[in-house]
Amino acid sequence: MLEIGSGTGQHAVYFAAALPQLIWQSSDRAENLPGIRAWLDEAALPNTPAPLEFDVAGTWPAMRFDAIFSANTLHIMAWHEVELLFARLPTITTDDASVIIYGPFNDEGRYSSESNAAFDQWLQARGAHMAIRDVGAVDALASRVGFNLIGNIAMPANNRCLVWRRGCA
Ligand SMILES: C[S@@+](CC[C@H](N)C(=O)[O-])C[C@H]1O[C@@H](n2cnc3c(N)ncnc32)[C@H](O)[C@@H]1O
Repeated sequence: MLEIGSGTGQHAVYFAAALPQLIWQSSDRAENLPGIRAWLDEAALPNTPAPLEFDVAGTWPAMRFDAIFSANTLHIMAWHEVELLFARLPTITTDDASVIIYGPFNDEGRYSSESNAAFDQWLQARGAHMAIRDVGAVDALASRVGFNLIGNIAMPANNRCLVWRRGCA
């Protein structure tokens, strides 16, 4: 499992402990790696290799993963980075890989809650490139590279968990 934009590394530690059958490869931009290393070192789990330096707008790892996970990142990345992320997914995934994306999403241009509308305004006041994305727009990027949406799960606090599978119609 490659996690993109691991942030602090706390999700890596939580999921790797709960799913010991997986190797959980955390990653993020260089500035976040020391914090991730601190979380991984403290937990000392056998299935969390050192975090990868990975910016989707930079150099991509020459590795293939069975699954990709990312939480709370698509509204932080610029849209051209989201496009790049999906366009290049086939280069780092196995033939039947899964992609799991967690976060707030809009549906056909509509906010799912007042709190998400307020969050979107907060984001855009801090950076015009940031915005809550539309499920349909993200799914269009995924289907263009052969990933089919197999799950769109409501999560607490008006978040969603979107699940795609490669090569599964
Ligand atoms: C709101 S934080 C979420 C962190 C963590 N996943 C969580 O849910 O707590 C957004 C993360 O996306 C990462 N990020 C933003 N742009 C990125 C990019 N172009 N490539 C890789 N990661 C990026 C940031 O460094 C940051 O760790």
